[in-house]
This record gives sequence, structure tokens and C-alpha cells, in this order.
Amino acid sequence: MEFDDVLRRRRMVRHYDDRPVDPGVVARVLAAGLRAPSAGFSQGYALLVLESVADRARFWEVTETRQETASWPAETKAGVMRAAVIAVTMSCKRVYLDRYAEPDKGWTDRDEARWPVPFWHIDTGMVALLMLLKAVDEGLGALFIGMQPEVIPSFRAAFGVPEDHDVVGVVCFGHEASAAPRRDLRSRRRETADVIHHGRWGA
Ligand SMILES: Cc1cc2nc3c(=O)[nH]c(=O)nc-3n(C[C@H](O)[C@H](O)[C@H](O)COP(=O)(O)O)c2cc1C
Repeated sequence: MEFDDVLRRRRMVRHYDDRPVDPGVVARVLAAGLRAPSAGFSQGYALLVLESVADRARFWEVTETRQETASWPAETKAGVMRAAVIAVTMSCKRVYLDRYAEPDKGWTDRDEARWPVPFWHIDTGMVALLMLLKAVDEGLGALFIGMQPEVIPSFRAAFGVPEDHDVVGVVCFGHEASAAPRRDLRSRRRETADVIHHGRWGA
């Protein structure tokens, strides 16, 4: 697919059907995420990928109380839960502090005040975005959702996720349901001039 078409078509899909996704396609979507740039090439991100019916059911069970899914209409909830693949994206700050303490960076004090923003979360977001785009390129739908803090302990316990990895968000992907409703967000899109400032802010 042309890159412009991928960009144009990309949107969050919340209604999937039960068709399985070819394992080769799943592998390509996941691999696309690993093409993400990362600060200092630290690559301090990780994915927990859940594909079996049992694992996915367990995931939705332990994250059920999160506000977002609890407030979704039943149809949306069921539509999201049918996504064939769940990839929980995680970041690991320790990897970055270790990497930047190396001689070519030299931040041996490991002082977090040196970081303008948490690059570990940014890099993981880039992984997620590449997966969202690759899913579109493969003819699939994809969704990024957050995970509410209160369910993270039960999520960790259910899947053995170590404490030094923070959940950044959840990428779901699969075949979009043919009758999936489409949101039209055009009227809510911010004016380009309010977002992009050429030469001087607001000029
Ligand atoms: C960091 C982040 C968190 C998001 N969390 C949720 C979420 O918890 N639930 C949800 O339904 N959508 C979530 N979204 C999707 C946004 O609502 C969506 O991207 C936005 O409305 C624009 O729609 P589009 O992506 O279809 O163009 C999230 C998106 C981002 C980037």
C-alpha cells in the first residue's frame, strides 16, 4: 500500500470479527514495531503478545475494571475483545539509564533530571505507532488503548510482567468487522495553523 494511503486510512478500529490473522502477518506487524527509533538506540521496550483465546480472555478479565472498557457500549466492548492479537507495549527506564551511563553518553550519575521527557515512554509509543501503521498496510485494523493504573498489578501477576517494565499501552489488531461503524472526526480536527508554527509561534 502507498504510504500516503496507510496514513490516510489509519484510524482506531474498535470492531473486529473472529477471523484469525495469518501468523506471517502477525510477525510482520510485530517486526515493524521493532524498526522504531530509540534514544541512544537503547531499545528499552518490550511487547507481551497474546494470541490464544485463553490468553486474550484472561487479559480482558484482569483489565475489565479499567474505566475505559467499563464505560464502552456492550457492542464496542465485544468488538474490541474479538481482536485476534493483543500486544501490550512496555518501557523499561533502567535500560535507558544504563545505556546513557556508558562512556559515549557519560551520564554516570543516572540523574533522571537530565531527561527532558521520559524517552523510554516516547520510544515505546513509536513502537506502537509503527505497529498501527503496519497493521493498516497489511489490510488489518488496529487500536491503541491505555491501561488504567489500578489494574496493572493484576495484569503483572497474570502474565509474569516484571516490575521494572511500565505498561505504556495496548495495541490490538485483527480483521475489521465488515459492518464496523466509522467515526468521522473531521469536524474535531484542530486547524493546522493552530498546531504548526512557521518561523515564530502564532505568526
Ligand atoms: C496515548 C493514546 C491513548 C489512547 N487511549 C485510548 C483508550 O484508552 N481508549 C480508546 O478507545 N481509544 C484510545 N485512544 C485512541 C484515540 O481516542 C484516537 O486515536 C483519537 O480519538 C483519534 O482517532 P483515530 O486514531 O481513529 O484517528 C488512545 C490514543 C492514544 C494515542
